[in-house]
Amino acid sequence: MNILLTGGTGYIGSHTAVVLAQAGHKVILFDNLCNSSNEVVGRLEKIVGKKIDFAEGDVRDTALLIEVMRTHQIEAVIHFAGLKAVGQSVADPILYFANNVQGTISLLQAMQQLQIKTFIFSSSATVYGEPVYLPYDEVHPTKPINPYGDSKLQVEIILRDLAQSDAQWKIACLRYFNPVGAHDSGLIGDDPNGIPGNLMPYLSRVAAGTLKYLNVFGKDYDTRDGTGERDYIHVVDLAEGHMAALDFLNKHAGLHVVNLGTGKPASVLECVRAFEKACGKPLPIEFAPRRDGDLPIYYAKADLAKQLFGWTAQRSLDKMCESAWYFEQMHNK
Ligand code: NAD
Ligand code: UD1
Repeated sequence: MNILLTGGTGYIGSHTAVVLAQAGHKVILFDNLCNSSNEVVGRLEKIVGKKIDFAEGDVRDTALLIEVMRTHQIEAVIHFAGLKAVGQSVADPILYFANNVQGTISLLQAMQQLQIKTFIFSSSATVYGEPVYLPYDEVHPTKPINPYGDSKLQVEIILRDLAQSDAQWKIACLRYFNPVGAHDSGLIGDDPNGIPGNLMPYLSRVAAGTLKYLNVFGKDYDTRDGTGERDYIHVVDLAEGHMAALDFLNKHAGLHVVNLGTGKPASVLECVRAFEKACGKPLPIEFAPRRDGDLPIYYAKADLAKQLFGWTAQRSLDKMCESAWYFEQMHNK
């Protein structure tokens, strides 16, 4: 298939591009490079051994999207493009709604004009909010606790109404848990600008010596070892989940909301230990107060993805840390 990946030079989009291209699909990346670099395109070409098409642009530019989709005879769209920093969304909610919601509307309008009706959306476990029960299954109430989460839920609502209005649409809302790790080549991975806010990229920098120690936010949560627990998922597993979702959509119309997680939470201290094993050295930590807005624990019920897509995450926490560490070393050579 000819598949447009908005946000295709970003972290999850680039890994998905590899999986799809290696499976014989033609991928076209569309990105405004606000949080990634076009260097990724060359790296992807190196990994897959063939040319990858890239168009620079903003998803709010409907006319450009129509032109790109027409030129490349696009048959399906995976929509990764979006802003994802929770703190920034609290400080500037309009930016988040303009980019994430307005951007999706523009994309859907372009698709509608060209009668392209297969769509995968990058949603997030953040749509669930405070757990009423765990693990979160897909029918758990949705009550996001920040504008980033609100923007994801608003898009999900638009997609629900769209699927109801026209039975030909084939839509998957994939609710990602915590994607970490990198491609085995070490050529692509998670490379945030500045001091990382997320645990795994922070640990990578501590291992590399560019940051002195990890602040462990909270040590007295009601969890196995007192530190926060999350459902970390290897980004290549996540990428494979997209291909499995696309195969499913090719045979099933309608809207499908599905968690992509492992179903197995890991604590901050377990992550530190796994990363120490990967890099072969102790990593200094200091306990710090709980981080505002953090939940003690959340993780996915991962059964629906298996049932519908025949997909389950395969890669262990050790593998996530090994690949993240390899990427960090390759990247800073
Ligand atoms: P990323 O920032 O690495 O990738 C997003 C890409 O979208 C970037 O390359 C950025 O330049 C591009 N982009 C942003 N706004 C755009 C616009 N208006 N037009 C065109 N391109 C634009 O992030 P990621 O981690 O790869 O996340 C991909 C998607 O998955 C996002 O929608 C994010 O909200 C969602 N998500 C991510 C996580 C996570 O932890 N990484 C978890 C849940 C959901
Ligand atoms: C964050 C986002 C969430 C997003 C998710 C995707 C916030 C509040 N939430 O979630 O919306 O979907 O990333 O990956 O930003 N930790 C430390 N020290 C650190 C960093 C993190 O102890 O320096 C702990 C946190 O307290 C948490 C765990 O590590 O218990 C994971 O944190 P993080 O990687 O930031 O992910 P989330 O908080 O789950």
